[in-house]
Amino acid sequence: MKTTPPTTPTPDDAALWHDGRLYLADQRILPERAEFLSYDRAAEVATAIRDMVVRGAPAIGVAAAYGVALAGREAYSNAGADWKQAIEADLERLAASRPTAVNLFWAIRRMRDLIARLEASDPSQALLDEALAIHEEDRAANRRIGDLGAELITEPTEIITHCNAGALATGGYGTALGVVRSAHAAGKIQRVYADETRPWMQGARLTAWELMQDGIPVTLQADCAAASLMATGRIGWVIVGSDRIAANGDVANKIGTYGLAVMAKYHGIKVMVAAPTSTVDMAIASGAEIPIEERDPDELLGCGGRRIAPAGCAARNPVFDVTPAALVDAIVTERGVVLNPTTEKMRALMD
Ligand code: MRU
Repeated sequence: MKTTPPTTPTPDDAALWHDGRLYLADQRILPERAEFLSYDRAAEVATAIRDMVVRGAPAIGVAAAYGVALAGREAYSNAGADWKQAIEADLERLAASRPTAVNLFWAIRRMRDLIARLEASDPSQALLDEALAIHEEDRAANRRIGDLGAELITEPTEIITHCNAGALATGGYGTALGVVRSAHAAGKIQRVYADETRPWMQGARLTAWELMQDGIPVTLQADCAAASLMATGRIGWVIVGSDRIAANGDVANKIGTYGLAVMAKYHGIKVMVAAPTSTVDMAIASGAEIPIEERDPDELLGCGGRRIAPAGCAARNPVFDVTPAALVDAIVTERGVVLNPTTEKMRALMD
């Protein structure tokens, strides 16, 4: 962890603990401005997750873990030895911030397990140490995912990615973009086509920003341009992250991923899903059980702060979809690679 006071965030600084406060790079305003917001209360962290200051499944988990550390400090200062009762409302607030990324619930579960083992004395340092460990482990997992994913790419190629599964979406380095970083270092990535990713434009704003800073060739395209690009025969892989992977290998990710996977199948292009095992939810049998977040239709009815649809127009704004396991060629985790995922293979990975 950094020890200097935070100034301007780099892509690796989605979340940063410094001097008793949590700093989150404000991902709503990148790349126009690179600024931190700082937090010392869990309730504010929950709001930051809901409002997309921090986003991306693993980064949401990391932020929530720091949120629990802040909650513990506040609960002990307010309630002393009764802090375990006092912390409960904040744990629930954090859990209610967004529904789809299971990393949020995984991180809160891990913090809860620690809470159950702690005494009535001040929990602040123990909770912070666990949050720092979750952060560091995610960083390390992404490095491993990057290397394993890069090994699957057998010859130099161009790839398509969707949304942002980069350093900004994780504890650092990135999942899908971690694979891109490792594969690019190995000379295997000729160009990344980044879907712009309506309506939040994570591809246009965040993926393009991250890759350009690393000198990795990136070309932005409208989401609907992917099929005609695939038809040129230049694309070797679609590489994406995930918010939740069910026990049978069905994958929830940013809305539009399912469509990309269908198109990839038609064109004989492989689909790689890169995600840490904290994204795998063995408690649900299939993707049909994954809660899909629906956000405010206003996010879709406008663009760049300007209204684009006629007044009174209805809009649906599901922000994730589920890609069936049958359309996924490889799930790459820090524990290993699952080719053509099935329940048996996912169980073998997770056991
Ligand atoms: O709504 P977001 O920006 O949180 O959605 C993020 C994604 O869909 C990412 O692809 C996913 O979380 C994987 S991030 C490593």
